Amino acid sequence: MNIATPLSLMIRRLVRNFLRTLMKGRDVLRHRKELATFLNFRNRTQPGFEGSVQPEELEFLSELVRRSNAFDGPIIEVGTLFGFTTQAMAGWKMNGKELISIDDYSWNPLGLAPLAHRDFAVRSLHYIRQNCDVTLFEGPSTQFCASYDGPTPAMIFIDASHEYEHVLTDITWARQKGVPIIAGHDYSAFWPGVKRAVDESFGSAITVYGTLWAHVNQGAS
Ligand SMILES: C[S@@+](CC[C@H](N)C(=O)[O-])C[C@H]1O[C@@H](n2cnc3c(N)ncnc32)[C@H](O)[C@@H]1O
Repeated sequence: MNIATPLSLMIRRLVRNFLRTLMKGRDVLRHRKELATFLNFRNRTQPGFEGSVQPEELEFLSELVRRSNAFDGPIIEVGTLFGFTTQAMAGWKMNGKELISIDDYSWNPLGLAPLAHRDFAVRSLHYIRQNCDVTLFEGPSTQFCASYDGPTPAMIFIDASHEYEHVLTDITWARQKGVPIIAGHDYSAFWPGVKRAVDESFGSAITVYGTLWAHVNQGAS
């Protein structure tokens, strides 16, 4: 018969607790990148949402969307994230104008896995998808551009990958399509890829508010 003494019970409990702590430590180490992302987000004291258009930039964006109402064709947003800017644009565009928002769910500031990120965006945009002619395209912008066969978009708002090649590809597609209002986010020294692609494409023919940039074709009212 194996009779556990109070001492052996106490030792077993100590060993079990030690092993649990060790496993938690291993998890912390394994997920240190995700934890750093979360802590960085948790400690933010600025208004607005990291990665999203900032409140003070929205006024300029609203002006651009209102101008785009004068043109046929949809508004294209490259980079849905969680749909904050999508919802703002849906509110400014006129009824019946389509808004297509593209995302491959490859990045978000919370460290959510792509499926959770997608689910969050899809659910939070339920109302405007049902009632405001908003469509979500899932995939990289290159895939969207290659498959798009609709009318010339009225406006494109580029805020997805900030790599030079990707931004340049999106801008070049929009120029080839003759999109009258080409705009984007994060035009700043902090995102040299964005700045370089925009400068190479338009030189000084852009307007910038905060980090929001726009090129409006001559003749666009
Ligand atoms: C900066 S966030 C967009 C912020 C959003 N426009 C807003 O104002 O709330 C960038 C988004 O672009 C997506 N993304 C990154 N590269 C992409 C690509 N090549 N094609 C489509 N989406 C991309 C990321 O998954 C992320 O959700």
